[in-house]
Amino acid sequence: MRHNNSLLLGLGVLLLFGIVLAVIWWQQMQKELLARRTAWSTQQLDSLGRAFLQQMQGLLSTALERGPEIAVAVCADTAQRFTELFARQHGILVRRTALRWRNPRNQPDSTEAWWIAQFERWNAEGRSLDTVIVLESSTEERLLRPILIRTPQCLLCHGTPENIPPEVATALAERYPEDRARNFRLGDVRGALSIRAPR
Ligand code: HEC
Repeated sequence: MRHNNSLLLGLGVLLLFGIVLAVIWWQQMQKELLARRTAWSTQQLDSLGRAFLQQMQGLLSTALERGPEIAVAVCADTAQRFTELFARQHGILVRRTALRWRNPRNQPDSTEAWWIAQFERWNAEGRSLDTVIVLESSTEERLLRPILIRTPQCLLCHGTPENIPPEVATALAERYPEDRARNFRLGDVRGALSIRAPR
């Protein structure tokens, strides 16, 4: 009996020791993750953002080769998934947003909305929009980069009714009943790329 008790005690101590070790290891992991996440410089964030837009554009171009109405379906299925994946992979929040959004999940928060309106004012004044806005607080760094309608290709799905082929209009109506992202013209501000990274 006495022998059994000390065995149990021994096991208990071992278990406790294991738990303590696991907790220390976990805390260390968290610290390392945090250190990795806060190691971004503004330049790195900006080039990540541009890489994101380029890859999104690549997905779109590949899809367009199969026809614009198929591209709508591909965009609808892929854009959100690609966005989430990219963000998770890099440990930062990256997304596209717009005042006149197509997907309600891309609605801007108040900061994003204010800056997109500002981009529109600058655009109307003829100022260059090849710029990135950096906002820093004690807890996070935010980057906002204007997205413009730079090629007629965008108008296939975001232009006026004359620009949008009927099959595309049907596909858009099916998937985005609340769509506001039409009637844009070449040179318009379409929205913004928005990045948020913890500091
Ligand atoms: C084949 C159709 C198609 C073309 C061409 C297209 N888009 Fe889109 N766009 C979409 C769809 C569909 C969505 C919604 C994606 C989602 O569900 O997140 C979208 C969403 C967006 C968004 C995110 C904000 C929102 O409104 O939800 C931006 C910004 C955008 N497009 C910009 C562009 C630009 C710039 C071009 C030209 C380079 C372009 N798009 C060309 C179909 C298209």
